[in-house]
Amino acid sequence: MPPDIAVYADLAELSHAAADTIEAAAQGAVSSHGRFSLCLSGGSTPRTLYHLLATEYRNRIPWSMAHLFFGDERCVPPSHPDSNYAMAREALLTHVPGLEARTYRIAGERGAEVAARAYDAVLHSVFPGKDPVTFDVVLLGIGSDGHTASLFPGSPALDEHDRWAVPAEAPPDVATARARVTLTYPVLDAALDALILTAGADKRPIVEHVRADGASPDSPYPVARITARRRVRWLVTG
Ligand code: 6PG
Repeated sequence: MPPDIAVYADLAELSHAAADTIEAAAQGAVSSHGRFSLCLSGGSTPRTLYHLLATEYRNRIPWSMAHLFFGDERCVPPSHPDSNYAMAREALLTHVPGLEARTYRIAGERGAEVAARAYDAVLHSVFPGKDPVTFDVVLLGIGSDGHTASLFPGSPALDEHDRWAVPAEAPPDVATARARVTLTYPVLDAALDALILTAGADKRPIVEHVRADGASPDSPYPVARITARRRVRWLVTG
């Protein structure tokens, strides 16, 4: 099946489209199972979206029933400029009363292995009755090398099929902290919907590869291996 790729004029338009999708998914999730589990992406692309969710869409999303998670985190303190949590906190969490208390942070400052094991346990037991988390929506970005979350090309984390969170290391050319924790395909692919937010001309070759060759489990680009229970949507600009 050809990938679902939607192209937008700019990041603002892309972010509104993503917010509309999240609004609909949240309403549907709360109606069907009484809560909305959203896995946030790091990096810079989602900042505009998070601001929209905290402002224009704030009263259109059932935030009191929402639980937020992270697809990856850098191994830095939560106040560090490289922290994905810090970006989400500034753009979204502090603007929605009570949301921070239902946000499950990856404690990267504890070191990758300790933080990964702790987060794996959270994902498996965060809800009463210990039913493991299955995200209603997972947000993902891509790097110019085709990574997503902190699943980098050639990483052993690509072949992890048991643990839901593992240590990872960004390549030397990545400007931010290299030591990471990343979620793995088993938990990412268990999401109902995946939204891949892609902005910037440097990522266009990856998008064109996926447009031509489709997504596949053995793609050289980790992002192209992502699947979902219902739909993987690429929202692209630039
Ligand atoms: C991270 C992200 C990563 C990000 C891409 C795109 O922690 O770095 O999770 O996967 O989504 O690198 O980053 P930009 O949005 O900054 O281009």
